Amino acid sequence: MKEIVPAPPPIVRNQFETIRELFTKNVVPSYGRFELALSHGDGSYLFDVNGRRYLDLGGGIAVCALGHAHPAITAALVEQSKQVVHVSNLYYHEPQGRLAQALVELIGPGKCFFGNSGAEANEGLFKLARKFGHEEGRFEIITTLNSFHGRTLAGIAATGQDKVKQGFEPMMPGFRHVPFNDLAAMRNAISPATAAILVEGIQGEGGVTPATPEYLLGLRALCDERQLLLLMDSVQCGHFRSGRFQSYHRILEGVPGGDTFLPDGISMAKSLGGGFPMGAFWVRSPYADLLSAGTHGTTYGGSPLACAVALKVLAVIQQEQLEANARSAGEFLRTGLDRLARMYPGVIRNVRGLGLMLGLEFAAGIPNLPGDSNKTQAVRLTNLMHAAGLLVIPAGANILRLLPALNLTRGEAEEGLRVLETVVARLAE
Ligand SMILES: Cc1ncc(COP(=O)(O)O)c(C=O)c1O
Repeated sequence: MKEIVPAPPPIVRNQFETIRELFTKNVVPSYGRFELALSHGDGSYLFDVNGRRYLDLGGGIAVCALGHAHPAITAALVEQSKQVVHVSNLYYHEPQGRLAQALVELIGPGKCFFGNSGAEANEGLFKLARKFGHEEGRFEIITTLNSFHGRTLAGIAATGQDKVKQGFEPMMPGFRHVPFNDLAAMRNAISPATAAILVEGIQGEGGVTPATPEYLLGLRALCDERQLLLLMDSVQCGHFRSGRFQSYHRILEGVPGGDTFLPDGISMAKSLGGGFPMGAFWVRSPYADLLSAGTHGTTYGGSPLACAVALKVLAVIQQEQLEANARSAGEFLRTGLDRLARMYPGVIRNVRGLGLMLGLEFAAGIPNLPGDSNKTQAVRLTNLMHAAGLLVIPAGANILRLLPALNLTRGEAEEGLRVLETVVARLAE
């Protein structure tokens, strides 16, 4: 039989260069990628095309809640896809209804909308805020400096970092930024046009900075006083990563007034699907019907397949007590990192974060840090960790993030600390 389209040559092991070439020729170069081509994973380990094993403490940037190739996710994908993968949101189906119910039970009285990514979840919150303020002509959303809210046009307008906006001006109107954890700045920024405030419970891309309890409680009171929606972007810090379902649950633990705290809207993604692309937002009861029929939608959001996987991720987290593990493994890592910071104060400046969302701030201008000096220290440090068999995520100029699977074991955490210590000790020489 005549072949109309010749089959591409198979990619065999040890062909990093071939894969990179495919990207160079065919993939939009919007990412600065590391020199690694990954082929498969197993739990908290990933393997490159040369068969080299890496301990993955980056978790796909807080996505792979159960690690890689978890059999329960595979089973959920297989079982649900034998029934039905997709039906339009013109119809009802059980997995979406059950997932919405599970999230409402975990957060509080309200309703959920399902999309496909964190940026799309935030877009939903922006539209909610606009609808909320529409009759009074209010449309503005105040966000914080160093925040990150996604790469869509509204997402970059909402993000409090200039680097994501450059080249894409004019920005979509209706967003202003004030310093994070500064209640007075937020209060002063409110204008007659303001409809909502949006913050991350723990800033992620901005360098792993948790909100203080006073800030969260203060924002709630401010929003009540000025009739604003309090919106929280939990895309990175949510889904048990902090050691509780939402980072505000963890931050406000034991704080007077903390147990009744509830935002008006929450965006979710990343760990929600454990690697299956999905996003969602929850909206609190009084506002849950604002986005009425015909006002918002998405073709793929909340498909039976996505929701079946997300339900399975939740079930495994519950069965295997991964909320508690995120807390104890996080504390173990944190103690080890604090020890490193004390031992090598010339290299490590600061350790921040909660649960399995940790940031390691390195000193600026480490003298013997190898690598291209045009790259940030964070990128050069990440390259060093890769060479030592550890995957971590850079943030800002000098920060490395640890966002591992919620089922990280004690042994894996120890291994991670050992590798980090070896690299840091060499830098301190
Ligand atoms: C806090 C936060 N919000 C939104 C996003 C955007 O999510 P996505 O890349 O899925 O669109 C991210 C991604 O890193 C994030 O960390």
